[in-house]
Amino acid sequence: MSTNFAVIGATGKTGRRVAERLEAEGHAVRRLARGTSPSFDWEHPEGWVPALHGIDRLYVTYVPDLAAPGADVAITRLAQLADEAGVQRIVLLSGRGEDGARRCEDILSASNVPTTVVRASWFAQNFTEGMLSDAASTGVLALPAGDVREPFIDVDDLAAVAVEALTSDGHAGLVHEVTGPESLTFAEVAAILSEVAGREVVYVPMGFEEFHAAVASEEGEAVATLLTELCREVFDGRNAAPTDGVARVLGRPARRLRSVLTDAAAATPAGRPA
Ligand SMILES: NC(=O)c1ccc[n+]([C@@H]2O[C@H](COP(=O)([O-])OP(=O)(O)OC[C@H]3O[C@@H](n4cnc5c(N)ncnc54)[C@H](OP(=O)(O)O)[C@@H]3O)[C@@H](O)[C@H]2O)c1
Repeated sequence: MSTNFAVIGATGKTGRRVAERLEAEGHAVRRLARGTSPSFDWEHPEGWVPALHGIDRLYVTYVPDLAAPGADVAITRLAQLADEAGVQRIVLLSGRGEDGARRCEDILSASNVPTTVVRASWFAQNFTEGMLSDAASTGVLALPAGDVREPFIDVDDLAAVAVEALTSDGHAGLVHEVTGPESLTFAEVAAILSEVAGREVVYVPMGFEEFHAAVASEEGEAVATLLTELCREVFDGRNAAPTDGVARVLGRPARRLRSVLTDAAAATPAGRPA
């Protein structure tokens, strides 16, 4: 009998890649997001039972973040419904260095469903398809990150690790802490973006209050508070050291940020980051 996979957050940066990789390997994948059929909405648990029906293995991304208020309640409920639905394996995407995310990891790891955690550093793709993707066009990369170093992970590497954990045995109960191979300051990232974009991109370190106000004006108070608290938590140097998580799972080195940004620029019609 074939194994049925589902991906929660299948239109997102990692979920899309996980679903594509699974399908390329010939697996049946139910892509789940708010607009899919069946749909999956973290705000509407009444839809979770049909979404999980008949699924054997599940990739989970939680939005807005596992450290957000209420995430622990949602993850507890998901674990219970997944168990009742007969799900036999969960791979959870988590964030490195976040206490709130750690609580959710522990909930799933203690559940009846064998779980693997993929605990990731900041995504390289935040600069190409995420919240900082306009830095190359505006010329400004503004964050409350001081001169902290971050080992940005290529989400294609992350997705490959997740797929390995979903499809191969021996990953249950493990935490794969995945990062890129080198730690860079955001000023160094701005320099790479400048080279790749062919125009100057400047890193502007912000204060936390200034950052909060800027996000609140665009995304509202709740998002601003969550993002500011996350930045306060993880930009203290705790995540600066790279890990060998990608190499241990995939048997090859993790990709460098420069390579990810260069390829993304080459893939856009104008030859520049979006
Ligand atoms: N960015 C980073 O550097 C970083 C680092 C480590 C960990 N993470 C974690 O990565 C996770 C996000 O994963 P991602 O980057 O792959 O996704 P993403 O690109 O942020 O996309 C979000 C996905 O979730 C779906 N979604 C949005 N609201 C939803 C809701 N209410 N219910 C159900 N689905 C919803 C979206 O689809 P629709 O809009 O179509 O519904 C989309 O598929 C977060 O938990 C974040 O903490 C991020």
